[in-house]
Amino acid sequence: MLNWDDPLAAAGRSSKGQTASERVPDHLSGQPELEFGERAALSPNRLQPHLTQEHVRPGQGIVGNASLMATAGAAPVVDPDPFAASDTAQDSLAFEDTCMPAPSPRPNASVAPGAQAPIDAVAGGATGLESLEMGAGRVRVDDKKIINCHADLNQLVPFKYDWAWQKYLDACANHWMPQEINMNADIALWKDPNGLTEDERTIIKRNLGFFSTADSLVANNLVLAVYRHITNPECRQYLLRQAFEEALHTHAYQYVVESLGLDEGEIFNMYREVPSVARKAEWALPYTQFLADPHFATGTPENDQKLLRELVAFYVIFEGIFFYVGFVQVLSMGRRNKMTGTAEQFQYILRDESMHMNFGIDVINQIKVENPHLWTSAFKQELVDMIRDAVAMESQYAHDTMPRGVLGLNAPMFEEYLQFIANRRCAQIGLPEQYPGVGNPFPWMSEVLDLKKEKNFFETRVTEYQTGGALKWD
Ligand SMILES: [Fe+2]
Ligand SMILES: [Fe+2]
Repeated sequence: MLNWDDPLAAAGRSSKGQTASERVPDHLSGQPELEFGERAALSPNRLQPHLTQEHVRPGQGIVGNASLMATAGAAPVVDPDPFAASDTAQDSLAFEDTCMPAPSPRPNASVAPGAQAPIDAVAGGATGLESLEMGAGRVRVDDKKIINCHADLNQLVPFKYDWAWQKYLDACANHWMPQEINMNADIALWKDPNGLTEDERTIIKRNLGFFSTADSLVANNLVLAVYRHITNPECRQYLLRQAFEEALHTHAYQYVVESLGLDEGEIFNMYREVPSVARKAEWALPYTQFLADPHFATGTPENDQKLLRELVAFYVIFEGIFFYVGFVQVLSMGRRNKMTGTAEQFQYILRDESMHMNFGIDVINQIKVENPHLWTSAFKQELVDMIRDAVAMESQYAHDTMPRGVLGLNAPMFEEYLQFIANRRCAQIGLPEQYPGVGNPFPWMSEVLDLKKEKNFFETRVTEYQTGGALKWD
């Protein structure tokens, strides 16, 4: 059973002890509470986890928690503000002077086996096989770019973005399945008429309602919209892993709904029936829709900014702000020894989400490095406005889900917390903090989300299900 008051106790040190943190902008260094994923557990073998004896075999159980913990959320980050010293100069650059010309149309059909490739064919595009040039020069690191890359996308190596590959390895090492978490205590508590208050039941149901479809929206956004515009194989490798994790999250919510015997129609339709849930989904959907448009292509400053805006919308706002009221609410119940199985599911989802967000932030910052003309003052202001609107919307969700206050929490506390994390998100992508002086009313979040918790988790995991490694094929 996880010790919710001190998750690090089992690791032989107090949760008050700090792990080494990733590089945090100087102006944040006075803030002691880092969120999960912003901490790094340093390990000399971190960049080569396959060399450690304790390396975890995904799907076959945990071999060594120390190894698992050493990799989670510890990948290096891209400088959030590469233009700090020359901001004015950047803004004055005209798109026409700095941007690559839009790529000329390329043939869509791949070359049939045995057929000769067009002489002027250019490799690249969404599949990397818009044309296959036999005997073409090998891909060099310098050919690679996050967007608008014309190098062959089917060649994972040589690596250019080690941080992306590392996050893929970290995510695989963190593999988990919803069935591993014991739900018996939750089932008994939910069925006990006196087990929970109505407000507590509302929190569980409302958050299952939001997350069960939100993760599906994120998955669809990844595979239908983002993936084809990110023209780098190591980033795509992580996107594929992330897409699977989103499926696992939806699975986890379904597993909780089924375990508790909830009305699945009620839960999975909340995003169309409950306004505070619908509002957030409605906010996010248009971003997916225009990127998924088959006629949309990057390669012009305007469209590249659209992609960047969409990445901020999903990675920084949807996964980085809209999820957090729900996470705090459900984890608060776990801290009070209520719905501990559900809370553990959310804890593992939050660990994944934290890495998704950090990956997205690295991608955003790398695109900025490679395309400085996109990062204009007007564009930055637009992103700031988006983040401020999102904080207001999520604050409203907090009011709607807990109008009376419950579990020692109330809506104003959430408002401050959202402002606190919004400041961090802004700093991570090189935008000015928007809410000076706000504190973190939930310092336990960074402790609960810290990395040593797995030891407890895997001591209590349910093992009566088959993993890929345990399946019989005869
Ligand atoms: Fe997710
Ligand atoms: Fe996610």
